Amino acid sequence: MSADSKSFYLTTPIYYANDAPHIGHAYTTVAGDVLTRWHRQRGESVWFLTGTDEHGQKIMNTADANGVSPQEWCDRLVETAWKPTWSSLNIAYDDFIRTTESRHTERVQRFLTQLKDAGHIYSGKYEGPYCVGCEEFKLPADLDDGKCQIHGTIAEIVSEENWFFRLSAFVPQLLAHYQEHPEACEPASVRNEVLAFLQSGVQDLSISRSSLDWGIPVPWDTKQVIYVWFDALLNYGTAVGLGDPADSEGGRKFAEVWPPDVHLIGKEISRFHAVIWPAMLMAANLPLPKKVFAHGWLLVGGEKMSKSKLTGIVPADITSHFGVDAFRYYFLRAIPFGSDGSFSWEDMSARYTSELANDFGNLASRLIAMIEKYCEGLIPAVATDQSLAGALSATVATADGAMEVLDFQTAINSIMEFCKRVNGYVTEQQPWVLAKDPANKVELNKVLYNTADSIRALAVLLHPIMPATTEILWESLGANETLGDISQQRIADVARFGQLPTGSKVTKGAVLFPRLEEKAE
Ligand code: MSP
Repeated sequence: MSADSKSFYLTTPIYYANDAPHIGHAYTTVAGDVLTRWHRQRGESVWFLTGTDEHGQKIMNTADANGVSPQEWCDRLVETAWKPTWSSLNIAYDDFIRTTESRHTERVQRFLTQLKDAGHIYSGKYEGPYCVGCEEFKLPADLDDGKCQIHGTIAEIVSEENWFFRLSAFVPQLLAHYQEHPEACEPASVRNEVLAFLQSGVQDLSISRSSLDWGIPVPWDTKQVIYVWFDALLNYGTAVGLGDPADSEGGRKFAEVWPPDVHLIGKEISRFHAVIWPAMLMAANLPLPKKVFAHGWLLVGGEKMSKSKLTGIVPADITSHFGVDAFRYYFLRAIPFGSDGSFSWEDMSARYTSELANDFGNLASRLIAMIEKYCEGLIPAVATDQSLAGALSATVATADGAMEVLDFQTAINSIMEFCKRVNGYVTEQQPWVLAKDPANKVELNKVLYNTADSIRALAVLLHPIMPATTEILWESLGANETLGDISQQRIADVARFGQLPTGSKVTKGAVLFPRLEEKAE
């Protein structure tokens, strides 16, 4: 557990509000939710920020095409698509920032003025390619035949008088930073790309646009709006009081959370987060984020899944069939965090059935049924099987260590391995055979207790990943009344055997993971 009392501050990218969320966006947000729930269960104070990126040409074009103002378009999308999707996926964010809110726009303007006063901003002329899909000024090496490598669309040629940020001046400092703190940009593959980019001769960055008016006005030159990425990156600070006086509410929040512990992003936006963003903070003399972690892409047909290429899948397509918790579980379990991964219905069905329904769901329902049948529905006398207890301690250590480094797959694997181990224990001990002879009562009770208390631990460890299902299980173990809310259970304490009190009542709850045939209508 981290020794400092500073909050664990985690952010997702703020997503463009031009369209509804698809499973790529949900992948990042679910990962953030799982990690922050895990840290809360470690007893840490946590701040989890997400939100929407609402300025720029892409949003303006979409709103125009739909015949409404950009503000109306964003309001509609945020209220009918983004927030409802996060709530349907059980995302427990602490704050949702929109870049059109005054708390953001005012702090962005103040930040920019501060950078100008400190000499980091000058006026110049930008001429070159711009991809509206990426909202990015492109280098020749980023384009294939003039087309963006990510969007496959022809980049526009922009020629404008703009304000520039002296990004190039920060290159030596950035290189030194990553040398000293390699963990500040992960995984290593992305860090190496960032380092190669930094060594390739970084140019200063145009940070304003004069050809559109949907953005935050440059405070001293209101004919220009601030470049959407410069505006967007600042959300991580504006949402927590960036630049506010130390004795104000914002200033106190800032002191409590800054610097961010993890910026979770997809790999295509790593230059923004690992080059431009820290340089902006260096210019303002602010501490740098501890880690930018860039995960891979969900692929469909071998390509980055995206709405614009019509390969977008929305979370409801999957959750309506498999349920929310299986959705939350599947992507983190199946794809090493940091690598690309293909989504397949077949793989998801197979894992749902074998890991969730059979290994986990059946174990829980068999245990409850046996306690009802053999122990009148009451948890028997406390007992500890040393070998299960040892396996559980090792599991918790592995899972906690893996979560610390965002290795969700290893964490989940180790928990599910323990689940298999408990299944093996039940198979070996054969409580249904012990139950045939009353002389075995003590032995039978021991087996059932050990199984029940192992399931208690599994519920706690899986809670950050599958909050709703584990709550149902917690209720049926009767643990709510005796041990309190499941989210209050601590990771550091979960391996202590013997927590379920003798005599508490178990009840058969809803089937945790119904068979898929039953669900398909
Ligand atoms: N608005 C910017 C981010 C600004 S942050 C200061 C942006 N928005 S976005 O709507 O395009 O969302 C990008 C993020 O969505 C990616 O970084 C990634 O986290 C997620 N994903 C979008 N498509 C994805 C996949 N196909 N696969 C995995 N994640 C994907 O960029």
